[in-house]
Amino acid sequence: MLDPHAIAAEAVAVLGDIEDPAILEDVKARYLGKAGSLTELMKQLGKLDAAERPSAGAKINEAKQQVEAALNAQRDKIANRELEKKLSAEALDVTLPGRGLHTGGLHPVSRTLNRITDLFHSIGFDVADGPEIESDHYNFTALNIPANHPARAMHDTFYVGTNDVLRTHTSPMQVRYLESHSLPVKVIVPGRVYRCDSDMTHTPMFHQVEGLWVAENVTFAGLKGVLVDFMRQFFEQEELRARFRPSFFPFTEPSAEMDIGCVSCGGAGCRVCSGTGWLEVLGCGMVHPNVLEPLGIDTEKYIGFAFGLGVERLAMLRYGVNDLRLFFENDLRFLAQFR
Ligand code: PHE
Repeated sequence: MLDPHAIAAEAVAVLGDIEDPAILEDVKARYLGKAGSLTELMKQLGKLDAAERPSAGAKINEAKQQVEAALNAQRDKIANRELEKKLSAEALDVTLPGRGLHTGGLHPVSRTLNRITDLFHSIGFDVADGPEIESDHYNFTALNIPANHPARAMHDTFYVGTNDVLRTHTSPMQVRYLESHSLPVKVIVPGRVYRCDSDMTHTPMFHQVEGLWVAENVTFAGLKGVLVDFMRQFFEQEELRARFRPSFFPFTEPSAEMDIGCVSCGGAGCRVCSGTGWLEVLGCGMVHPNVLEPLGIDTEKYIGFAFGLGVERLAMLRYGVNDLRLFFENDLRFLAQFR
């Protein structure tokens, strides 16, 4: 009979080199399986003398245990190696620099709109919006601009069919808001407006913020106070000068245009203010009775002021942008400066 310990020694030597778990199982079968060499030895025990059997059987069992121990050890070794491979493949290098986050940002016109809205909201103005396709009635007639009024020609209107227009200003919301709210009202209306006009200083679409305050004791002095305070806060210039020049709008009486001291040169005269030292920033006035009375408002009791300012104009002045068209070209080299 073959020596079980020699077989076991051979098996242990073979097992030590195995890396593949499938081969490991093959080798196991070769020694311990049904036809494995140690199993065969067991089968031969019966042929031995009874006296030799116990010690021979014990030897074979020892050999089997050695092989099994070596098998288990190798199995663990293979499993550990696999685990290590996996861990090193999935390792994170926490010392690597970050990839950088490409953040977006608000468009400078949106930032300016938000800034204007926040400032008026902080002094008690509600914020509303309205339709950009507007009826002829709200855009003109209800604002004391009847058919054939010369002011209509000044508006470079885009018509939508025969009765509707792309609103040429946010003022139609004065009427809509008064129709749907009870007095007093104190509201601003930011939004897009459209005029059939396009050059260095005009785009077919731009933004306005309308303001309307109708109550019992509204005054022109109040209008001036609100607007001067607003401009000083908007431009962060406490000493900013302002003046109001007489003007004409059909829906306000009296009407005025507001100028502020040039925020670029401080009033000395420069390219931004065309050498005048002043910048025209908005139109305003006391709401005309012809606007209020058709709405059933008692103009002996209530009085109001309104104003309309151009958002792009304020954005250009605040950010020092000298060409209006930059706001509409969406060139990222320009826009990225406002993040
Ligand atoms: N709607 C006027 C414009 O677009 C501005 C304005 C608004 C003037 C309110 C007076 C009162 O030019």
